[in-house]
Amino acid sequence: MDRIRIRGGNKLNGTIPISGAKNAALPLMIASLLTDEMLRLKNMPQLADVLLLQRILRNHGTDTSVFGKRAGENNENGETVGLMAADIVDTVAPYNLVSKMRASFWVLGPLLARCGEAKVSLPGGCAIGTRPVDLFLMSMEILGAEIDVDAGYVVAKAKNGLHGGRIVFPKVSVGATHCAMMAATLAKGETVIENAAREPEVGDLASCLVKMGAQIEGIGTSSLHIQGKDRLHGAEHTVLADRIETGTYALAVAMTGGDVTLTGTSTQLLDAFIAKLIEAGVNVEAVDNGIQVSRNGTNLMPLSIETQPYPGFPTDLQAQIMALMTMANGTSTIRETIFENRFMHVQELARLGADISLQGDTALVHGVKKLHGAEVMATDLRASVSLVIAGLVARGETILHRVYHLDRGFESLEAKLSACGADIERISD
Ligand code: EPZ
Repeated sequence: MDRIRIRGGNKLNGTIPISGAKNAALPLMIASLLTDEMLRLKNMPQLADVLLLQRILRNHGTDTSVFGKRAGENNENGETVGLMAADIVDTVAPYNLVSKMRASFWVLGPLLARCGEAKVSLPGGCAIGTRPVDLFLMSMEILGAEIDVDAGYVVAKAKNGLHGGRIVFPKVSVGATHCAMMAATLAKGETVIENAAREPEVGDLASCLVKMGAQIEGIGTSSLHIQGKDRLHGAEHTVLADRIETGTYALAVAMTGGDVTLTGTSTQLLDAFIAKLIEAGVNVEAVDNGIQVSRNGTNLMPLSIETQPYPGFPTDLQAQIMALMTMANGTSTIRETIFENRFMHVQELARLGADISLQGDTALVHGVKKLHGAEVMATDLRASVSLVIAGLVARGETILHRVYHLDRGFESLEAKLSACGADIERISD
């Protein structure tokens, strides 16, 4: 299994291009199930999760074609991906596929809307929490589906098609909003979604659906009004920049010191996060087509952070900012409110010399003067990359195991960091 070796201590200087967002690309790909015409997605990140979802969608009958291949790349990699589900040949999403990637559960909405039926395996829990699907089932029932849960599968039927309805989510859910919004585009009549997730990736999906012929008002707000259409058509859409990748590299620069421009991204995706970075003593400026981040060795100030749905501080940057706070000049408090078990990185950061104590949903991070290299591993994507950030300043050598987590969500991580001066390499056995 691959490992990553980091020798800490180098500052980062240069430019890092930010990729298209994994968490926008996945629902956009699933939206291809809503039409028999081609959906062309540009700025696709080359990630294990994207390749896996291509395979899952092929199982339902989607043809995938890849354009814009770079030299030496295989047939599945390319910056532009065409997805065409001319015929849905199978409305079953089996356990062996859905269990590998939770977002594939979201096919429930489009399959039900287009075919009147879907049988989708329950995704199960994962390392960061139990992650139930009650809000998905509630919203599909409001749109007229009959739902049974049988032998680990959600069996959903809408013989006469879906109809519009008023969905009031009791809790903000990104996935349930994606799924309900996609289903509503082909339901008869008007659907209102209240307390919808406002994450930029939800707005990106909505904009793409509009290009496909959907009628959606309130994009970017927590109240979406959707007029169902008889059919949607093909479209071309550019995947939004990855705000979590942006924030992760901003934190890497904050950690090591140096001066890096992150291109193809925008401060507007990350207001709450950038406010915290500035409070910690990091320089952050909006520049043409990107963000410039620098720190020149001044003390890092401790922070008090609470994760919240957008526009609050993102849970997907909680592990990475904790890595930064391990070196702050004082004690930080980091409260995780979205997932109940998203502190798996704490014990691994401790192996690098961090001083963190947990009190329920809150981590108290006592800043230390130095971190030191060690062998570490993590159980999820964002936790893994927090260890990379810590490894970039840890004295000596850090070896990160279970690199496949990183490959799910960070395109060319080692290449992007080493181009800015980091001593980081992948070791394959
Ligand atoms: C999305 O997951 C992201 N995944 C996650 O990123 C991200 O952490 C999360 O949103 C929150 O921002 C993708 O976009 C592919 P939720 P999602 O439904 O949609 C509870 C990463 O590292 N809930 O917004 O699955 C749930 O348990 C990943 O890239 C219910 O109770 O998250 C959680 O506590 C990890 N019932 C909260 O809502 C439901 O039916 C928010 O989860 C659905 C969710």
